[in-house]
Formats: sequence, structure tokens, C-alpha cells
Amino acid sequence: MKRETWKTKVGLIFAAAGNAVGLGNLLRFPSKVALYGGGAFMIPYFVALFLLGIPLMLIEWVIGRYAGAKGHGSMTGIIGSFFNHSYGSRVLGSIGVSIPTLIVCYYIYIESWTLGFAFMSLLGQMPEPVVSDDPRIAMEPFVSFYKDYTKPSPIAVVFLIITLIINWVILQRGIVKGIELTAKYGLPILIAMGLFLGIVSLSMNGWKGLEGLLFIYKPDFSKLTDPQVWLEASGQIFFTLSLGMGAIATYASYVKKNEDVVKAGLYTAGINEFVEVVIGASIAIPAAFAVFGAMSVPELAKEGTFRLGFITMPAILMSLPIGSLLSAVWFFLLFIAALTSSLALTQPLVALLEDEMRWSHAKAVNVSMIIVSFGAFLSAYVKGFIDDVDFWAGTFMLLFFGLLEIIVFVWIFGVHNFYKEINTNSFIKIPKGLIYFYAVVSPLFLVLLLYFWGIVQLPKVLSQTDPNVLISRAFVIFIILLIAFFSIESRRRYLSGPHM
Ligand code: PHE
Repeated sequence: MKRETWKTKVGLIFAAAGNAVGLGNLLRFPSKVALYGGGAFMIPYFVALFLLGIPLMLIEWVIGRYAGAKGHGSMTGIIGSFFNHSYGSRVLGSIGVSIPTLIVCYYIYIESWTLGFAFMSLLGQMPEPVVSDDPRIAMEPFVSFYKDYTKPSPIAVVFLIITLIINWVILQRGIVKGIELTAKYGLPILIAMGLFLGIVSLSMNGWKGLEGLLFIYKPDFSKLTDPQVWLEASGQIFFTLSLGMGAIATYASYVKKNEDVVKAGLYTAGINEFVEVVIGASIAIPAAFAVFGAMSVPELAKEGTFRLGFITMPAILMSLPIGSLLSAVWFFLLFIAALTSSLALTQPLVALLEDEMRWSHAKAVNVSMIIVSFGAFLSAYVKGFIDDVDFWAGTFMLLFFGLLEIIVFVWIFGVHNFYKEINTNSFIKIPKGLIYFYAVVSPLFLVLLLYFWGIVQLPKVLSQTDPNVLISRAFVIFIILLIAFFSIESRRRYLSGPHM
């Protein structure tokens, strides 16, 4: 069975950028920035971008191309191939498939809200805006609307099903006719709509939105000693660039053998950062600044990641002329961003079932989507599920797996081998000294972050006693075991089947 490869270079870059650009850029980023003090957040953010984001991005591209040529696209097969496919290495690698699978279960549910809200806006079903300087009063109707919708309402369930079907169909069509095609149309539309809304937001109330940009970009050194800010900023870099979970490596495994992966990696990171620190920074925070003033923004962010995007933004947009249309543009923008990412989050599992279990593409996609649908319904109905799964898979496991990637792909593979591999077909030559620098500094940084995580975050979460948490934790363990099982079971098939 021949593995598919991306059809064009542009398509490959768009697909990879679509992978990285997602709700992380337009919702998670502004909320974190607001919560952790604007300019105070941005310093650790850029440090993490250069010490973790760029190197891991390049590592995943290099290793993805290397392993893809041997027929492996999932971390199970990729890490396994460095250790003769021993059971232990395949199980360890399987964590790199569990992470995106766990994340997509709640990610796709939030994606379905964006589609639902887009249609509700178009159909004139959003609440009437209330004019008031007091943000609480102005947002009141939108708070109830959001609460009713996410309960979940029957409409929310319908849109969840529609969203699952859209993902199912695209994945079923495969790499070129499914994912590449979606990204080729989706990404330009996304960037155009994002720039448009950025200008709308900045120009509100006589360009008062610019104060919001100032809040983000005025350097503030006061919180540099707070480990929490470092953890959140680094976590954001991992999440937004889709790193530490094999999602980039899986896409990279579908390149042609002579592809320039350094260029592809730098483009992926570059486009993602543009959509985050330029477009993402210009919409929600500036709009909130312009309409409700500086004091309100951190307050609003405290009320959860979704507050800015699903309550504050529609409340502001609906009060403008052609508000319903603007609100529809905002939610449709979010939907496209989320869609190209949820495809990327599901593909590692598809690759595992296809490359390692040797199932047909159709069967691999069907089984993957059944698992994802099950998780998505749990996200919808179990209270606290989203936060808890995000805490484990979306923060801790990422940092851990990122560290593992550097150890295996640089140290165990060998700095020299890695150096040769990264410089194959690259448009620039990466010096060996730089690889040594990253091979030492990035893991140390990660160890420090994991240590902080253990002392700052872990105790908070472990003290929770909500019985719902048992459901989400049981689900996390179930997915980890299930995927480990596939990884072990497929080892036999791999060793007995024809080698590619
Ligand atoms: N990077 C995506 C975002 O910003 C999320 C994602 C993570 C997508 C991992 C794919 C893999 O929303």
C-alpha cells in the first residue's frame, strides 16, 4: 500500500499552517494574554517561541519526513522505528497519539459551537444587544444565550453531529482530496476575514481599540518571576504550534522524500505566529478595550477561556450596524480555523490505524471518528470534562512528550545523524553548534517547566473532589490504554507484514 503525499508545495504549507492555526490563536491566546497581564505574558511567550517552539517545530518536520519514508506516520511507529519496534518504545510513542486524540474530543465540541453560533447569527437568532457602559449589563443577554446553548441545547447537539460528519467526510477523502483541499480554500478565507475583523476591532470608537494592542505590546517585567506565567506562556506555544503531540510529525510524514522540511517548518511557524500575534491580538482584546475600557478586560478573561470569544465578542459586534453579519463572520472565521486543526488532531490516530494496524483508510477513519464522537459527547454532557482533559492532555502531557521528542530524536538518534538529516535539501544550512545549543537548553527549560507544573499546578487539581472528574480521568486512562493496545497489537502485524 503506497502512502499518500501532499500534491503541491503550496498545498503542503497551507495544510500545515491550517494544522497550527486554530482556536488557540483566536480564542486561547487573547484570553491568556488578558489573564496574565498583557505585556507581562508576551516576554515569556517569545522566549518560549524561540527556545521551544522553533526547535521542536523543526524536529517534528525532520523526523516526520524521515519516518514517513519508512512508512510510519504516527508517533507509535516513529518512536518505535528508533528502537527496533520494541514493545516499550511503541507504548511510549503511543502517548503521542493519545494526546491529540484526547484534545480533539473537546476541541471538536467547541468547534461545533462556532458553527452553531455562525448560523444563529446569520438567521438572526442572536440576542438583541443592550446599550450600556456597564459590561455586566451589556453582556447579560449574551451570557444567558451562551449558557443555554452549551447546556447543551438540542441545537448544540445537532451542530455537534454536523461538525462530526464534516470532519468524518473530509478525513475519509484522504490527505490530498480532503485535508489539502480544505486548507487550500480555508486558509486564505481565514486570513482575509481575520484581517477584516482586526481592522473593524481596532477602529472601534475612533480607533480606541489601539489601546488594546498597546496593552499587549507594552513590555512589563513585573511578572517575570512568576512561574505560572512561564508555564502558561510555554503551554500556549506548544498548543498553538501543535507541538509535543506528533501532530506536525504526522503531517510531515506525508511529504515527498526530497521536500525542504526546514522551509516548511519555518513557514508553518511564521504563518501561525502572524495569525496569532498580529490577527489574534487585533480582534478580541482591542474590541473589548474600545467598548468596555481597560479595566474590564482582565476581569472578563477571569471568567474562562470562552468568555471573550462567545460572549464579549458577539455582544460587541451585535451592537454595530450589520451586527448579525459581523458576528457571523467572527464565528465562521473561528470555525474554519478550528476545522483545519481538528482534522490535524485526528489524523495521528488515523495514521496509527492505517500504517501500523494495516487497516484500510476507510476503516481507520471510521474507527477513529467513532472514538472521537464518543469523547465529543462526553465533553458535551459531563461538566468539567473540557477543563480536566485540557489540563492533563493539553498541558502536562505535551510538555512531557516534547521533552521525550528531543531526547529520542536528537540525543538517541545522534546529533550528527540529526544534523545530516536536517540539512538534507534545506535552503539554509543549520550549523551543528545551533543543534547542540538547542539539544541542551530546550530540555533544561522543559525540565524546569515540568518541575513548576508539579509544584504549582498539580496540587491544585489533585485537591478537586468533584465526582465528574472521575469520569474525565477514567476517559483519559481509557484512551491511553486503548491506543497503547493498538500500538502493541500492531507490532505483530508490522513484523510479519511486508516491509515498506
Ligand atoms: N494548534 C491548534 C490551535 O491553535 C490546536 C492543535 C493542536 C491542532 C495540536 C493540531 C494539533 O488551535
